[in-house]
Amino acid sequence: MSKIIVMIGAPGAGKGTQSRLISEKYGYPQISTGDMLREMARAGTPLGQKIKETMASGKLVGDDILAEVILARTSQPDCENGYILDGYPRTTNQAHLLEELALRQRKKVLFMRVVVNEEPLFKRLTGRRTCPKCGEIYNIYFRPPHVDGICDLDGEPLAHRADDNPESVSKRFEEYRRSTGPLINYYSQNGRLVEIDGDLPVEDVFEKLCAVIDSLNGE
Ligand code: AP5
Repeated sequence: MSKIIVMIGAPGAGKGTQSRLISEKYGYPQISTGDMLREMARAGTPLGQKIKETMASGKLVGDDILAEVILARTSQPDCENGYILDGYPRTTNQAHLLEELALRQRKKVLFMRVVVNEEPLFKRLTGRRTCPKCGEIYNIYFRPPHVDGICDLDGEPLAHRADDNPESVSKRFEEYRRSTGPLINYYSQNGRLVEIDGDLPVEDVFEKLCAVIDSLNGE
């Protein structure tokens, strides 16, 4: 049965980093709701402007907008054999919609949570730099590029996200505890949540995630 791999985790836990690696290894497309919303924000439409303001403040974008985005993207042919959801669901409403979608698409959902201590995440987020062209993720403290501010892979100047400042980061943590906390409790109580230690180095976290995915292959 094809899979939907759901990556849950606090801001900066490594959802994007790990989803990218899983996508490269297993060939499932990575669907990052954060990236899709940032693209909508760049479009400059009234809706885009509203999304931009919400994201910059660290609050969650409305469930109705997310529902449209997810339905449209997961109906694409490249999702037929499975896909990775990086940053969705984040509320119980979103989780209900996903369960319905999985039933309709005849896919098994694998919920994986990257668990991290919150304190070092501030450095991970404020130090993050991303290549706007290829999406490679760096960190000025833990994983700097060879040349300051330049992507190793394609020489593009690196970008700093508008919501990676201390005020927005605090708000994002607050939202995570308030909106995503109940969802984590629900899936953990019914035994459907696989938890991985996200404080380990990137390669070790990836190895553990792969072990879980491989153990389910064939199901
Ligand atoms: P989104 O873009 O998804 O942001 P987020 O959830 O806050 O998560 P991040 O992307 O900041 O972190 P990550 O876990 O992907 O970590 P990463 O791998 O980059 O969402 C942004 C906004 O969009 C939300 O606030 C909301 O407004 C809106 N939104 C999105 N989805 C939504 C939804 N479903 N509903 C409503 N609104 C939604 O790593 C971070 C840094 O740490 C990097 O520098 C990386 O190099 C480093 N790092 C990663 N792993 C390690 C490691 N193991 N050790 C050391 N450093 C590491």
